[in-house]
Amino acid sequence: MKIGILISGRGSNMVALVDAVKSGEIPDSEVAVVISDKPNAAGLEKAKARGVETIVIERNKRTREEHDADIVAELKERNVELVCLAGYMRLLSPSFVRAFPDRIINIHPSLLPAYPGLDVHERVLAAGEKVSGCTVHFVNEDLDDGPIILQKEVPVQDGDTVETLSGRILEQEHNLYVEAVRLVSQLESFRLRQPDLLQ
Ligand code: GRF
Repeated sequence: MKIGILISGRGSNMVALVDAVKSGEIPDSEVAVVISDKPNAAGLEKAKARGVETIVIERNKRTREEHDADIVAELKERNVELVCLAGYMRLLSPSFVRAFPDRIINIHPSLLPAYPGLDVHERVLAAGEKVSGCTVHFVNEDLDDGPIILQKEVPVQDGDTVETLSGRILEQEHNLYVEAVRLVSQLESFRLRQPDLLQ
């Protein structure tokens, strides 16, 4: 399965996926490209260091649709079959979502549908939650919406700050994202072997 990963920043989830593909933990797959909308995203160097092609496609003053069309073209050119959003800080346009039906997944640092959007950990702490976590889900046209693939609960501890809670959740994100991509790739190979059973 050819994977394309979209990032905007640090790229630690992207690194987890690239390393899992390289080690064979995610079998029969290849990370074909990492695309960032930010030229200074720290993840770009991490991808390059792992021998993965990187591209920067900035939004500049274009519409969301124009920007997304460029990204879709690069992904299609490389025959990408699964798009993984990994800290990609933009909402995808409907035409992007339609270009990869059921082939775009995202990771979010909360137990969706609770706490979609930004500043998740601040809001979780302010609400006095005892449990938070992370979610991998298929992407649709709404923010942090779409069918859930996997979730992992993470305890909120007394005295937690945004830094301590986000760090504890991030560790679990890396495992959860790898597991979710492994599941999706297994489903894909099953679909290829049994085309009549799964439409
Ligand atoms: C992660 O917490 C992810 O869940 C959220 O953005 C953060 C990205 O971190 N969507 P990284 O760039 O993968 O390190």
